[in-house]
Amino acid sequence: MSRSRTAILAALALVAGASGTALAVVPGDPGIAAIPCTVDYQVQNQWSTGFTANVTVTNNSAAKTSWSVKWAYAGNQKVTNGWNAKISQSGTAVTANNETYNGTLATGASVSFGFQASYSGTNALPTTFTLDGVTCNVDSGTGGPTDPGPTDPGTPSTKVDNPYSGAKVYVNPEWSAKAAAEPGGSRISGQPTGVWLDRIAAIEGVGSGMGLRDHLDAALAQKGSGEEVVQLVVYDLPGRDCAALASNGELGPTEIDKYKTQFIDPIAAILADSKYAGLRIVTTIEIDSLPNLVTNTGSRPTATAACDTMKANGNYVKGVGYALDKLGAIPNVYNYIDAGHHGWLGWDDNFAPSAQLFYQAATAEGATVDDVHGFITNTANYSALKENNFTINDSVAGKSVRESKWVDWNRYVDELSYAQAFRSQLVTAGFRSTIGMLIDTSRNGWGGTARPTAPGATTSVDTYVDGGRYDRRIHIGNWCNQSGAGLGERPQAAPATGIDAYVWMKPPGESDGSSTAIANDEGKGFDRMCDPTYTGNPRNGNNLSGALANAPLSGHWFSAQFQQLMQNAYPPLP
Ligand code: GLC
Repeated sequence: MSRSRTAILAALALVAGASGTALAVVPGDPGIAAIPCTVDYQVQNQWSTGFTANVTVTNNSAAKTSWSVKWAYAGNQKVTNGWNAKISQSGTAVTANNETYNGTLATGASVSFGFQASYSGTNALPTTFTLDGVTCNVDSGTGGPTDPGPTDPGTPSTKVDNPYSGAKVYVNPEWSAKAAAEPGGSRISGQPTGVWLDRIAAIEGVGSGMGLRDHLDAALAQKGSGEEVVQLVVYDLPGRDCAALASNGELGPTEIDKYKTQFIDPIAAILADSKYAGLRIVTTIEIDSLPNLVTNTGSRPTATAACDTMKANGNYVKGVGYALDKLGAIPNVYNYIDAGHHGWLGWDDNFAPSAQLFYQAATAEGATVDDVHGFITNTANYSALKENNFTINDSVAGKSVRESKWVDWNRYVDELSYAQAFRSQLVTAGFRSTIGMLIDTSRNGWGGTARPTAPGATTSVDTYVDGGRYDRRIHIGNWCNQSGAGLGERPQAAPATGIDAYVWMKPPGESDGSSTAIANDEGKGFDRMCDPTYTGNPRNGNNLSGALANAPLSGHWFSAQFQQLMQNAYPPLP
């Protein structure tokens, strides 16, 4: 694709993933059909004869200059007075029309109004809302009336707001042993890392390795009398890793039933065992999959046939919905959906459409927004947490940093600002206002002797950004075993507003993909983005891959990478 830029779009894209994946950003074609509108109906206060409620309407269709929201009550609720809308009622049917001052409702914008009502008996939540005659996907406040799950009205959830608060996090003994066996590795071998359920066999344990119950039993032993988080990565969708090859998986594009019955159902059965009820189980749901449907499909130059297939057959959306529903029904499981990273979804063409697609998946196959505790960004990627030497608002020599080659019209220059902004976008798209974000900081430290200590020269936006940026990748779309990367922030709870934790979901030292083809029985392909001699594709702007040489298959131990990550840790290791 051409590297020319226009003021509207970002040029290209990138990606990344866990193990790789790719992404891309390209103008136009958001590709995903939006849900036309969402309505969040929240009962705020309730007493025996009355209640107050707040209603937030989000318009995902064409911009409006006036609006009319309607619903019907099943009981004898009667609206007595309202604010920020003209509310009338006829029998059980309620109509809320805009006031003169809030009739404008842009695409993607929300408006809220409130009212007081009387009732007797049961204050059942309305189930269907329309905006100007179009039915909206309901996001009702005290529990989804359409979801018979444990978070229904009357069944208070036992989930805490931030599972990481006041809790230790499980140290995977298998990873810990590999880390400790490396020279200097004992400095980090006590850190918690994610346990990857990356194939059906991982549930029972691959070879002589630990299975899911082994990990949960070990977590109970580590827990003692305190609280303990266990971090799982649920990663085995049909047609996995559609924009790259390094983490292709065992299930073909159509094997959604096998995914449900042989992967998700057995995991759910184990997690629901009452023996494990005292653990806080955090699940990272299916990295890279939904973002790939947004950025690497359709008419975009970054599209792949495999991603087009997965978008057309719906099996990523169905699989994610199914996993959220089954796992979210377990009172001590906290689902966090993978939300790419800023160098993937931070462009305007990707940002809101991704949030909408996540909402679609979170309301598919029986799932509701109550099954989603939050989102995780930067899983297995290398995006810097915070760039201190420049901001998105800086201009140099008359040009915005957004015009630099590196930023390339993105709205975000680092992961923390992206995660916080995307959290708001997700709430706008219909997710609960209580969602929290996780950021994978396992490999985004970018310390060591090459770390800039001051902003770059103000000769041009490019000298300014390139001279000051911590992230030293050749292109932000590079994702495989990046040369120069270091360990990032150590795992910690509640480090910033809206962020539940910094986590090491990708275990440092585990490869993103092999640098040459290696035969294997894991379904893994050879992606040339892991070959240091590769000159790239549209997803990394046709740049060199920046990958380390001599890497083993994705997920396998890569000692040289582990050593580099320690060497370039930021904050530095003792
Ligand atoms: C990659 C691999 C997967 C491994 C994970 C964690 O996604 O494909 O097998 O478990 O990385 O290292």
